[in-house]
Amino acid sequence: MSEQIKVVLTDDEMPRQWYNLQADFEKPLPPPLGPDGNPIGPEALAPVFPMNLIEQEVSQERWTDIPEAILGILKMWRPSPLYRATRLEQHLGTPAKIYYKNEGVSPAGSHKPNTAIAQAYYNKIAGTKRLTTETGAGQWGSALSFSCAMVGLECKVYMVRISFDQKPFRKIMMQTWGGECVPSPSEMTEVGRKILADDPNCPGSLGIAISEALEEAVQSEDTKYSLGSVLNHVCMHQTVIGLEAKKQFEKIGETPDVIIGCAGGGSNFAGLAFPYVCDKIHGKDVRIIAVEPAACPTLTRAPYVYDSGDVAMMTPLMAMHSLGHTFVPAPIHAGGLRYHGMAPMVSHCVKEGLVEANSLHQLECYKAAVTFARTEGFIPAPETSHAIAQVIREANQAKEEGKEKVIVMNWSGHGLMDLSAYQAYFDGKLSDHELSDADMEKALHCIDGLPKPPA
Ligand SMILES: Cc1ncc(COP(=O)(O)O)c(C=O)c1O
Repeated sequence: MSEQIKVVLTDDEMPRQWYNLQADFEKPLPPPLGPDGNPIGPEALAPVFPMNLIEQEVSQERWTDIPEAILGILKMWRPSPLYRATRLEQHLGTPAKIYYKNEGVSPAGSHKPNTAIAQAYYNKIAGTKRLTTETGAGQWGSALSFSCAMVGLECKVYMVRISFDQKPFRKIMMQTWGGECVPSPSEMTEVGRKILADDPNCPGSLGIAISEALEEAVQSEDTKYSLGSVLNHVCMHQTVIGLEAKKQFEKIGETPDVIIGCAGGGSNFAGLAFPYVCDKIHGKDVRIIAVEPAACPTLTRAPYVYDSGDVAMMTPLMAMHSLGHTFVPAPIHAGGLRYHGMAPMVSHCVKEGLVEANSLHQLECYKAAVTFARTEGFIPAPETSHAIAQVIREANQAKEEGKEKVIVMNWSGHGLMDLSAYQAYFDGKLSDHELSDADMEKALHCIDGLPKPPA
């Protein structure tokens, strides 16, 4: 039996600034566009977000100070521990050293509160009374409900219906923190009513839930909208993960060769990876891999285009890999990875060859999750299992090649609210979903005629 290796930081060693990768891109990100195809200014986002967050969204500054009030709340669970997965290594018989940054230690159970606390705080000081949002598997809705409780805001969450039905305890978590959670599509918004009229059994999608939350936010002065992924400021808030990881590796005198994270909208991946992407831009040799589901292969198969973030096209057009804003992915259990688009910054990294992407089927991921739980103890979220499956692939390859390498993954959240998915897996009820070329082509019709980003 091997002794647990856990690398911790003190409160004083917590990062005091967020890192903005935009400052280091050689080619700048293409700008977001309005419905007329022209670049939008910050004021176009003002009905939806407070100005302090819009400033962060468009900022080119490399570093932004984290306010003391935010640090004070993040300290409830940060710095998060970096573990070495020695039992998993032994089980695999690999010469690779495997580390994981455990973001499941937050009160809501994932990395999502890293930005939820920041967004709730900036809204509060800007005078917002109420936040609306969407949630896939429920992790983001829980994180925002928790964060609104911490700073004193109301919170309304539109939860993708398939996940609402699969994960009933998530709604109760949100309710416990004072958040209101409704299934999406709902009868509460025009866009929801329209979708239900066409398809009363619609399983929902993140794109639909975003439209509903946006529709409600723009109708009232003191209500704003909060997004749990994709946007530049969200990716920036998550960089505390990678900045801490770097300090933890410094403490033990190791340097990771491979960085791995699952990617839904891209935020947890960005959080761990972006400080290392900076190193790569400045000449360091490191492999950085984003892992997505084969049922929703945004980075690996979808084109790099201008598209909207939601089904009703209420968001600006963003340059990103996208399966089309009307795409409704197969109902896999990793609800947080069922998004048609990808963070513009993560998409840009893939396009520029800074980051690799891979897609995996869910049965391989559940197998990996169970192996992880039986060796390392922690039960991962279905989203996180994609990162674990990729780590196992890399570790097995190291074994074949007889090469030692240091692998680190973002362990983005625990799966204690996802046990019905594990049950379905154990009962043999899950299957793999490969998106066919014909279905992908059909889904992409909705972007015909939209502007194209520079090659
Ligand atoms: C545990 C967990 N990991 C990963 C994700 C994917 O989101 P993102 O790509 O923004 O990190 C989610 C989204 O809900 C999640 O709950």
